[in-house]
Amino acid sequence: MGWGGGWGTEPLDDAGREAVDATARQALGAALAAGITTVDTADIYAHGRSEETLGRLLAAEPGLRDRFHLQTKCGILVGGSPLHGEAATRYDSSPAHVRASITASLARLGTQRIDTLIIHRPDVLTDPAETVGAYLEAQAEGVVGRLGVSNMPLAWVRRFDDALRAASGGAEGLVCVQLEMGLHRRALVESVVLANHPEAAPSAGMGGLVEFVRERGITLQAWGSLAQGMFTRHGPGEATAAAVATVAGVARELETSREAVVLAWLVRLPWGIRPVIGSLTPARIADCGQAADVARRMDAEQWYRLWTAARGEQLP
Ligand SMILES: NC(=O)c1ccc[n+]([C@@H]2O[C@H](COP(=O)([O-])OP(=O)(O)OC[C@H]3O[C@@H](n4cnc5c(N)ncnc54)[C@H](OP(=O)(O)O)[C@@H]3O)[C@@H](O)[C@H]2O)c1
Repeated sequence: MGWGGGWGTEPLDDAGREAVDATARQALGAALAAGITTVDTADIYAHGRSEETLGRLLAAEPGLRDRFHLQTKCGILVGGSPLHGEAATRYDSSPAHVRASITASLARLGTQRIDTLIIHRPDVLTDPAETVGAYLEAQAEGVVGRLGVSNMPLAWVRRFDDALRAASGGAEGLVCVQLEMGLHRRALVESVVLANHPEAAPSAGMGGLVEFVRERGITLQAWGSLAQGMFTRHGPGEATAAAVATVAGVARELETSREAVVLAWLVRLPWGIRPVIGSLTPARIADCGQAADVARRMDAEQWYRLWTAARGEQLP
């Protein structure tokens, strides 16, 4: 999301393009070296400049496209963005918008194929069956591989998955659901663990989602998985000092980085969560690459200690 120079609406000049390309090239190099094999972008990130930046990297390095799984998203029209010319932000998963978005993303990325297309947010005005129809047309043309959704409650994940299974004759269902999850966003964990408790976090439609995606073989992806640094840096927007200290303490015990501990808290769950990281800093990306190993070594006491510290109160 950080590739492409942020959320300003002015186009980049040559120097700006060179700067964003250098940042993205270094981040991608660090990610591939760390064993990260998926790149997550979206049509709207930096108003199209994220995809354009990736497109320039791909054009400059033959063979690079084959080294990672590419996922992008559509379905949000950002108010004031030069991309869609909308006055106010709205969602659109209509077949016409989905097809036009795929075409525009392929052009910005300069590639023939998007491996996974993610519907960014639920558009209540469009029946998921219609969106699925547009996706299957694009898939039949060979330009999209699989379908995922993002920021949707269980009811909508089910509607999309049912629609896709029905329209594909059972050949496929959704491949992933991307949600904000981490030590700072614990609703999915707490919807499971704090059931029947007066202080249970509102599950916001996510109760039962974990069991559903596991039954259907859908991968959970966690965006915001580094909690934007809340637990690993000192400064504004940080978590409580006790939570920051607990993360640092577990990192010392496991002889690893604090970032790996924050990600491992998600990966340690027996739910197959794939963290999506938004770091542009090569050293931090390398640290994140330790998360799977750290999750294997993190014991239950450490996991519960992290959860309790992030909650800021004892478990019931
Ligand atoms: N589906 C959706 O609706 C949705 C929404 C948002 C994002 N996403 C996807 O998920 C990805 C990750 O989300 P995100 O970027 O919001 O979350 P994130 O990975 O939690 O946060 C990344 C940001 O936190 C900073 N950061 C992390 N640790 C830090 C530390 N110790 N000190 C200082 N800064 C630190 C990074 O700075 P550095 O660059 O310096 O490391 C970067 O700016 C995005 O890139 C995007 O692909 C999806």
